[in-house]
Amino acid sequence: MQRIAIFASGSGSNAQKIMEHFHASKKVAIALVVCNKPGAGVVTIADQHNIPVLIIEKERFSSGDSYINELKEHQIDFIVLAGFLWKIPLALIQAYPNHIINIHPALLPNYGGKGMYGQKVHQAVIDNKEKESGITIHYVDEQYDNGKTLLQAICPVLKDDTATSLAQRIQLLEHEHYPKVIEKLLTQQEIQAHR
Ligand code: GAR
Repeated sequence: MQRIAIFASGSGSNAQKIMEHFHASKKVAIALVVCNKPGAGVVTIADQHNIPVLIIEKERFSSGDSYINELKEHQIDFIVLAGFLWKIPLALIQAYPNHIINIHPALLPNYGGKGMYGQKVHQAVIDNKEKESGITIHYVDEQYDNGKTLLQAICPVLKDDTATSLAQRIQLLEHEHYPKVIEKLLTQQEIQAHR
């Protein structure tokens, strides 16, 4: 059984889709949710699925031990970021090399980087009169939104789109693809149990 930690600090809609996808899986278990906002929607979703939640604090995460012992205690093999906005510290990347992935609501390398999340991304896409946007699922390295791309999926940007209407179209793509990419990755030979 491969054990995933989902790092999320938002409403948790992607986390929910991933939990539902692997609910009855014999190969993959969602073993932990890691969150930096105690009141975030994802905490309620984790509770509903009986998944433990680890609430983390910025300094210890970014410049302390990065909670690596806690991840090992929960026997975490693989980390999935789903609306987690803090930069992943080098210590954690080195503890989980090629075992951390992220989803971004745009076609990287455009519209990525520090501070580019949620409505800001979609507003920038609309302001630039892009004809297309989409999602990028990628490995995580020490720079924001930079690691090797695993999948991009594209959708149109319509003439009368607002950041909100575009966000809804993008969210459908995220929900459709993220669980499948995780499943594919974790059932490939080269992604072995980490511990
Ligand atoms: C998702 O759209 C995800 O792509 C984005 O946060 C949202 C979380 O939504 N992540 C980033 O922007 C990372 N730079 P959710 O809480 O409903 O899953």
